[in-house]
Amino acid sequence: MAIILGIESSCDESAAALIGSDRSILAHRLAGQEDAHRPYGGVVPEIAARAHVQVLTPLIEAALKDAGLTLDDVDAVAATAGPGLIGGVMVGLVTAKALAMAAGKPLIAVNHLEGHALSPRLADASLEFPYLLLLVSGGHCQILRVDGVGQYRRLATTIDDAAGEAFDKTAKILGLGYPGGPRVEALARTGDARAVPLPRPLLGSAEPHFSFAGLKSAVLRASQSGNYRPEDIAASFQAAVVDCLVDRLEKALNAPLDQSSPPPSVPSEVEGRLTEGSTRSLDFARELGMGQKPRTLVVAGGVAANGAIRSALEALAARHDMGFVAPPLWLCTDNAAMIGWAGAERFALGLTDPLDIAARPRWPLDPLAEAARGAGVKA
Ligand code: KG4
Ligand code: ZN
Repeated sequence: MAIILGIESSCDESAAALIGSDRSILAHRLAGQEDAHRPYGGVVPEIAARAHVQVLTPLIEAALKDAGLTLDDVDAVAATAGPGLIGGVMVGLVTAKALAMAAGKPLIAVNHLEGHALSPRLADASLEFPYLLLLVSGGHCQILRVDGVGQYRRLATTIDDAAGEAFDKTAKILGLGYPGGPRVEALARTGDARAVPLPRPLLGSAEPHFSFAGLKSAVLRASQSGNYRPEDIAASFQAAVVDCLVDRLEKALNAPLDQSSPPPSVPSEVEGRLTEGSTRSLDFARELGMGQKPRTLVVAGGVAANGAIRSALEALAARHDMGFVAPPLWLCTDNAAMIGWAGAERFALGLTDPLDIAARPRWPLDPLAEAARGAGVKA
């Protein structure tokens, strides 16, 4: 069994974990920074980077102690090398490089999104490639076809905000504070999801892309109107997000089976704001029904911790006769176990990296989907 030390520092969680290639979680430690960022209502990059400097080394020491291991027992050091807040990513990556160099172990530079994308395979040994992945976090909202380690085809992305961002902004509007997602979910439990009429951006549109900016503005207007209870706004907002996620996934799953069918048209309000890759994704959407169709629907990323979203996706998978895999809640939000696991998957394939590899603020999983046209488009 190979043992991988995983390090995560791309946002506001500092984390270290020791993961076995047999899926054993030998140790995982996490230090959140909520208190440091709370006064600002969101993550302040410079504060995050400084906090990572302070806590990362003690966290790694603690994880090694928990596992009863030393660096000598570790086969490789894996760290998030992007995408994320660059100061924090550099802190974690430099720490990993120093440890790898000192201990004479290989370095593995992990794409944080790959950590999320492969995390369901750490939790569920039976999950095989290919699978259809909804990756929903604070920074991303994408539908990806996962064909293997390092093999990702992006079928859809958001044209403005990520779903987690919409949760966080809704929390801010409702005065729930930070971090927002879990608080909106908790408040939504006591509200009426039909009480506030909110839009479902891009619902029914031909491509499976997402948009949440208009929903966020509608939440702001509803809140400012004074006509609605906060719990009803939270519940109605969450229901709108669920509807959008399910509809867009339906679209990806029901993509035409036949290459000869006419390409779906892009709605005029979206045209010109899409990335080159997202236009290209139409072909991949068509491909979904060809070759080997993914038999499992998988959700990962921080927003995958949301109970309403998980149950809606489970029902969607059942309607399509697909399996459904969602990692346990702690593995959905940022952690180092998923980085250690992605490291283990890469290590098994001999994929290690040179010590001069650079940290990357942006690093799309599907490089062909990288080129962006138009402002405000996220890879
Ligand atoms: O994956 P993650 O921990 O960090 C990123 O890589 O972005 O995702 C964090 C996001 C935040 O926007 C947070 O509000 C959201 O995930 N989140 C949730 C829930 N738990 C975390 N959103 C909705 N419901 C939740 N229970
Ligand atoms: Zn994340």
